[in-house]
Amino acid sequence: MSDPSPPPYAGPERVLSGIQASGALHLGNYLGALRRFVALQNQAGGPPCFLFVADLHAITVWQDPARLKDQTREIAAAYLASGLDPARSTIFPQSAVPAHAELAWIFNCVARLGWLDRMTQFKEKSGKHKERSSVGLYTYPVLQAADILAYKATHVPVGEDQKQHLELTRDIAQKFNNDFGRPGWFPLPEPVIQGPATRVMSLRDGLAKMSKSDASDLSRINLTDDADTIAAKIRKARTDPEPLPETAEGLESRPEARNLVAIYAALADIDRAEVLRRFGGQGFGVFKPALAELAVEQLRPVSEAMRRYLADPAEVDRVLKAGALRARAVAEPIVDEVKAIVGFWRGSGDGG
Ligand code: TRP
Repeated sequence: MSDPSPPPYAGPERVLSGIQASGALHLGNYLGALRRFVALQNQAGGPPCFLFVADLHAITVWQDPARLKDQTREIAAAYLASGLDPARSTIFPQSAVPAHAELAWIFNCVARLGWLDRMTQFKEKSGKHKERSSVGLYTYPVLQAADILAYKATHVPVGEDQKQHLELTRDIAQKFNNDFGRPGWFPLPEPVIQGPATRVMSLRDGLAKMSKSDASDLSRINLTDDADTIAAKIRKARTDPEPLPETAEGLESRPEARNLVAIYAALADIDRAEVLRRFGGQGFGVFKPALAELAVEQLRPVSEAMRRYLADPAEVDRVLKAGALRARAVAEPIVDEVKAIVGFWRGSGDGG
């Protein structure tokens, strides 16, 4: 009897994620991404981590070439300032590892148009003028699948909004394995979505995501903001006039209050119920200063380190260069094997 279920992937576990190189990083990136990468890195005996700056993804919309390099260094600085250790985690620019773009082309020929037509992020980003978007913006999730599978990554820490791209990655891996008769060759990577404040909202509008593209700088806490700026932004954060509720249900129709409580919970690493046990019944006149103090205390070491790295681009460049070499050493053999599986010519002497 033949076994109908294909053999599962049997290779090593690897963690991989990326942040797009477009604009300054803020508290949402820190709580939703950076701090979780650090926790994964610091897991004793955990799998190796690959963390990159997605500059190939950044140019799916226009980027000023003079700024792109600096933005790449800024994200690398944020990785380092948050506590990622280049001795344990591989930190590199995506464009410095050609395997990403090579594998993306092959995956463009594996993925189906119908799959990409369903991607909600493209619909949001292209807006009303789909026909004027770059082709790269459309095929963005295919490049993301290549980022992940070029390393046979098994665990991908991302925010909720990236779940659909991870599903697409699994579909591509599965179809590749089937089409080329290689069951279990690519892993089917799992999103790692956890933690209370994976979605930090704007300080001016509790229904909008905290975003680097928001016109108001008061809407976000940047990782380069100093202590006074952080405190001032929290003081000016939009709220309602009611005191904080005693239980989480009381936050339901109060998006601004819910956001500030979620930020407190994430920074203090406690759940929202615990925050409300401490502050329920109190007004924002009490809660905001407490939140400001906590945010300053937690973010000060990060923003100080960040400014130190930004003042020393040569040090950041050394990290990126060493990371790119290490990343290539992992991704190149995998993508070489993909090319052989697909049937690309490799000259004589390869036995094929
Ligand atoms: N699309 C991701 C985001 O916007 C960034 C990203 C690019 C990524 N490639 C990736 C995340 C690969 C995880 C794995 O957040």
